[in-house]
Amino acid sequence: MPSVIVLDKLAQEGLDMLEAAPGITYEVITGLKGEELREALNRFDGAICRSGVKITPESLEGNRQLKAVVRAGVGTDNIDKAAATRAGIVVMNTPAGNTLSTAEHTVALMLALSRNVAPAYQSLIEGRWDRGKFMGTQVAGKTLGVIGLGRIGLAVAERAQGLEMNILGYDPFMTEERAQSLGIELVKTVDEILPRIDYLTVHTPLTEETRNLVDMEQLEIIKPGARLINCARGGIYNEAALAAGLESGKLAGVALDVYPEEPCTENPLFGMPGVVCTPHLGASTEEAQTSVATEAVELLTAFLTTGAIRHA
Ligand code: MLT
Repeated sequence: MPSVIVLDKLAQEGLDMLEAAPGITYEVITGLKGEELREALNRFDGAICRSGVKITPESLEGNRQLKAVVRAGVGTDNIDKAAATRAGIVVMNTPAGNTLSTAEHTVALMLALSRNVAPAYQSLIEGRWDRGKFMGTQVAGKTLGVIGLGRIGLAVAERAQGLEMNILGYDPFMTEERAQSLGIELVKTVDEILPRIDYLTVHTPLTEETRNLVDMEQLEIIKPGARLINCARGGIYNEAALAAGLESGKLAGVALDVYPEEPCTENPLFGMPGVVCTPHLGASTEEAQTSVATEAVELLTAFLTTGAIRHA
């Protein structure tokens, strides 16, 4: 009988599906690392995780039992895929379930930056009625640069168009025709986008190509007063460059949901004027969590019972 380990907190709907899956047994064991994780992974046929657990080469060492890991979410960067492949373990993800929630969070942060929502509330609860201090900026008529026009990037672009923003997009995989049909002006390089945007958002994985995509050099050419948002992966913007840009006044604002190391409770950007940060909440909605959990269970149970592989 195939057995499944759930390594991170999973929406109840997913657990209910596991409970009801004929011929599957499962256990939820969260917070595992080191030897405990290695030993646990060696006792199950399949695993479901979110981003909390880190599946490293060490955690798969000597594994003879595990056949598949499904990430309930998009990014599989917490799973060492090369080590999994060497051990014959299939890695799958659920790329669609988070799309709308992450796009909405991006828009929420963009608007929060524009209207000083976080510092205005902070000042109010500290007993001040500072109406004059929090002059904002309208997003209508402004230009949003979207780097990465996949599911989430496009959902952000569509929502921003609803706010009457102009969209400049960069994505080497997007054709000119498709961009045009979506009302997006496609540019050929990141450098081309930077001098022209009022807001910038990134929706790419973190890779060697995207790490430090906005660094000190890019700061030189970015439009003065730009506001930058990152709900994708920490490290795409160089945080030291962001801090320098805010200090010099070149950047008007920075909103981050993601960090190079997570959990992240200390960061030089936290508390800087013009910064609003959240603790990786992009996918934290009931809808997204239900969707990624149920899709992850579907993928894993299908694989364990029929060998079918999707989103590998
Ligand atoms: C993802 O990759 O699915 C998102 O960043 C959300 C998450 O890590 O939970």
